[in-house]
Amino acid sequence: MNAPPDKAPPASPHTASAPLADSAPLAIDARGLTRRFGDFTAVNAITFDVRQGEVFGFLGANGAGKTTAMRMLIGLLEPTEGSAIVAGVDVVHDADAVRRRIGYMSQRFSLYDDLTVQENIRLFGAIYGLSDARIAERSEVLLARIGLLESRKELVRRLPLGWRQQLAFSVALLHEPQVLFLDEPTGGVDPITRRVFWELIYETAAAGTTVLVTTHYLDEAEYCDRLTIMVDGSIAVAGSPGEVKRALGVTTLDEAFLHLTRPAAAT
Ligand SMILES: Nc1ncnc2c1ncn2[C@@H]1O[C@H](COP(=O)(O)OP(=O)(O)OP(=O)(O)O)[C@@H](O)[C@H]1O
Ligand SMILES: [Mg+2]
Repeated sequence: MNAPPDKAPPASPHTASAPLADSAPLAIDARGLTRRFGDFTAVNAITFDVRQGEVFGFLGANGAGKTTAMRMLIGLLEPTEGSAIVAGVDVVHDADAVRRRIGYMSQRFSLYDDLTVQENIRLFGAIYGLSDARIAERSEVLLARIGLLESRKELVRRLPLGWRQQLAFSVALLHEPQVLFLDEPTGGVDPITRRVFWELIYETAAAGTTVLVTTHYLDEAEYCDRLTIMVDGSIAVAGSPGEVKRALGVTTLDEAFLHLTRPAAAT
């Protein structure tokens, strides 16, 4: 949280001079993924892929189906139809194996408020099946990175929201997952903390971890290598931020979002 309050976006690991290779293997390959609740189709035959090491944005208005799609991709919710391979594993046939290979920061706060920083790490480390020595080693690295080493005995509920979110992010990385799923990780945090968060996301991607992130902040969508905008359960547009803007004939992702999610207001 000591980042300078300048306006420049954090530096993506994938630049024009060092782009992510088109030939990078796929970390997520979703085909016709669908989820119905009774008669209601929350996610409607979405097909997309994400390459290893990519930062992929999942955008859409409230209720568009982002969390439902994410829950299917991490093996928490069975698809009604379709398939998805995540980190090399079929989510329909081997949800347990998928869960071991992925990290997940849920939209609702995922840590235990009445436990300390260290106790949360120990608890989640044990759930992931890590040894005590490995938990100690990983917690040292992750807490040092977010500047929380000194606060390890603090109750989580006493930490400001930005720190709690960064801790939840770190806990999701404890077992070194291949793919990290972040469901609105920056909801409600201040702009400086959001910046720090994106630096963490980029560091994670630069180390080879694939990141799929949902957000309502359109400036953050610009930081993604590629993104989709979901409307009523379907993918309305997909591509790099530049491709999405060109496809819709708009100059900002704000306009793209409004154009797709509120067509009447945009005309
Ligand atoms: N278990 C469920 N039973 C019935 N309907 C559900 C269930 N889970 C989600 N839905 C519905 O599916 C739709 C998509 O919800 P979802 O939570 O995936 O949206 P979202 O894009 O994540 O929205 P937000 O931006 O508000 O988080 C909503 O209409 C929601 O009410
Ligand atoms: Mg959601």
